[in-house]
Amino acid sequence: MTNTTHASDLTFIKANGRSIPVRTCGTGTPILFLHGYPLDSRLWQSVMPLLADFYRCIAPDLRGFGQSSEERMSFTMADLACDMAKLLETMGIDEPVMVCGLSMGGYVAMELVENYPQLVSKVVLTNTRCNADDEAGAAQRRLAGCTALRDGVAAAVSPMLEKLISKETMSQSPSVVATLRSMMFETRASTIAWAQIAMSHRRNFGPLMRGWRLPSLCIGGQSDPIAPPKAIEEMATAIPNSVAKFVSNSAHLTPLECPAEFAELLRAFEQQTSA
Ligand code: MLT
Repeated sequence: MTNTTHASDLTFIKANGRSIPVRTCGTGTPILFLHGYPLDSRLWQSVMPLLADFYRCIAPDLRGFGQSSEERMSFTMADLACDMAKLLETMGIDEPVMVCGLSMGGYVAMELVENYPQLVSKVVLTNTRCNADDEAGAAQRRLAGCTALRDGVAAAVSPMLEKLISKETMSQSPSVVATLRSMMFETRASTIAWAQIAMSHRRNFGPLMRGWRLPSLCIGGQSDPIAPPKAIEEMATAIPNSVAKFVSNSAHLTPLECPAEFAELLRAFEQQTSA
């Protein structure tokens, strides 16, 4: 492909006027994996090989995150969904994909379902929520953005660390902690600021989801303090024919903390909804 270059295990694909880093593996029905904040496509690194015998797994670094280039302008969740639509087109994927988004990636998945329904066959919303921010929440986000720009990335993201993974993962999985710290602390201050602003302006998807007609699965971590089980149940109730599933030894980063259980949930859902 002429508009593709390779660097380590990432492929850079030119789409929507930018160079999008993408991890891929496997063949079969495509699954698009969308990471959360302040993370990157490494979030899916343990899950993807478990699904590669059955699915074509595609995990990009979203605008400004991971190995993508620095963002100098503001963006919205809808802009990130537009990047993904163009990416799928450039990759020549001519069938609707299953989209799996975690937390902020879930907000992007919701925009994809709303704005590009023809591109999405099924949706998995994991460790995320469907409501918009209230004014206090939006103000906290502005503060986090300012902290990153003024005091540095560590000051902005360190307070999140213990909310992202469970106490068990923290004490028993040093490699998960190392990957997580690397994703968080390598995120640029400008990305933190722009992403926080973008999330503060996200839509309230609750009422919109009531009109969705595609198969959907909502996954939560039993000890997730950011998108608690109640928020997962709320989404599953809002979306017609959706189901909620919970993973017990997990907080906010279920695919990183419990990849085997997560992959099994996705596979079972995909099979049941293809029958
Ligand atoms: C994430 O994990 O992507 C964030 O916690 C989402 C958010 O801040 O709303």
